[in-house]
Amino acid sequence: MISEFNQSECFVYINLPGETRPVTAGKLVIRPDKSGLPHGMFVYGRSYLDRQDKVPIDPIELKLSDRVYETRALKGVFGAFRDAGPDHWGRQVLERHAGKPELSELDYLLLSPDDRAGALGFGLSPIAPTESPGFNQTLDLAQLQNVAMAVVNDEPLPDESYKEQVFDLMLVGTSMGGARPKTVVEDYEGLWLAKFNREDDKWNNARVEHAMLMLARSCGLTSATSTVVQVGNRDVLLVKRFDREKTGEGYTRARMLSALTLLRAEDTHSARRKWSYPVLAEELRRMSATPGENAEELFRRMCFNALISNIDDHPRNHAVIAKGHDWELSPAYDLTPFSPVSIERRDLAMICGDDGRRAKAANLLSQSNRFCWIKTQRQTFWITCKNRSRAHGMKRPAGQGFRNPTAKKSAAPLSMKDSFTNKRGRSKVPE
Ligand SMILES: Nc1ncnc2c1ncn2[C@@H]1O[C@H](COP(=O)(O)OP(=O)(O)O)[C@@H](O)[C@H]1O
Ligand SMILES: [Mg+2]
Repeated sequence: MISEFNQSECFVYINLPGETRPVTAGKLVIRPDKSGLPHGMFVYGRSYLDRQDKVPIDPIELKLSDRVYETRALKGVFGAFRDAGPDHWGRQVLERHAGKPELSELDYLLLSPDDRAGALGFGLSPIAPTESPGFNQTLDLAQLQNVAMAVVNDEPLPDESYKEQVFDLMLVGTSMGGARPKTVVEDYEGLWLAKFNREDDKWNNARVEHAMLMLARSCGLTSATSTVVQVGNRDVLLVKRFDREKTGEGYTRARMLSALTLLRAEDTHSARRKWSYPVLAEELRRMSATPGENAEELFRRMCFNALISNIDDHPRNHAVIAKGHDWELSPAYDLTPFSPVSIERRDLAMICGDDGRRAKAANLLSQSNRFCWIKTQRQTFWITCKNRSRAHGMKRPAGQGFRNPTAKKSAAPLSMKDSFTNKRGRSKVPE
């Protein structure tokens, strides 16, 4: 981590497949161009290109080559690097730590620790760090939750006299994307993404998201392993990190790219027309080692999101990972239902068919050829998924879509059964 701000260049490190220590992959420079707009440049290092075991950071946009890559999109940050940096939540913590309302894009990358999603790291030294980063333990969750709540509510820290130490604890996890307060913790099994409930949540998000990840699995999707633990009097969702594997020497790291990067899109409103499931299926076919399976899995996820009203299914909530040389769709994560605003119409965040983003069976099926599925399989899957969702307490009102049967009476999005977890808050359901 650095103490100076407004950096304009840094080195990019990468953990090669199966390795627990990073090597230097190249150099990233972001400077204003003649018109004052950020201009990003990246070049792979010669010693990296000379390695036998080198891998590309992004096999489409940053192929292994000695050319200088340039971009003016995304404030000069290539998509692969943006995916490794903090998002709304991490930025909020870093800004508060730095005492500044905004930092430069490189500062966000350099200030956030190397527990970031994927295999990349960033630093000012041409030599990659040799020390492995330490992690907070699940035992620290109570203190982490208190600090997270103070940041969310813009309140003084629980113990101002230990501000630095408290922030050092909290900075771990800031590089993970997303808006929800979160951190990264370690236990004997490995690393977990800990997602905290917020006081203004409409329902117990930890339990609801955990239930959706399990429901997805029972509908035949591949989803991240999760559990719910009680910290103080609150539930915290722990999602097992699928981009890290514990070994005797430390953690190996999988490379990771978001669908936003695969679609060459931005997360602005105007770039939304590029957010598309069928186009993503085609991008997957281009880069995945198991293109047919991954495109089918994406189709399942699109239908599942429609069935649970997960309208936050934007392209940063889909990713591809590479544990070795090959890329594949990552397990599903961040599956969160929303209370429908309108019974007549619900839209997903991404285009799913001829009728745009509309979460309706006919629309979901309209371009399913592009996902490689044969017609009977598509229809069988849709029906199985609907039945499973119903069996878990989600009802379909007359009209369309699944909606919370108790939405008017309580704040729960679904009739979530408390039997999903035991008294100690651990999941009873085999993961
Ligand atoms: N199980 C996981 N393993 C590795 N990375 C993950 C996992 N779950 C989420 N991520 C990464 O962390 C980011 C934030 O997580 P997410 O669950 O989407 O949080 P939020 O609800 O705040 O959007 C994701 O965009 C993804 O890059
Ligand atoms: Mg998310």
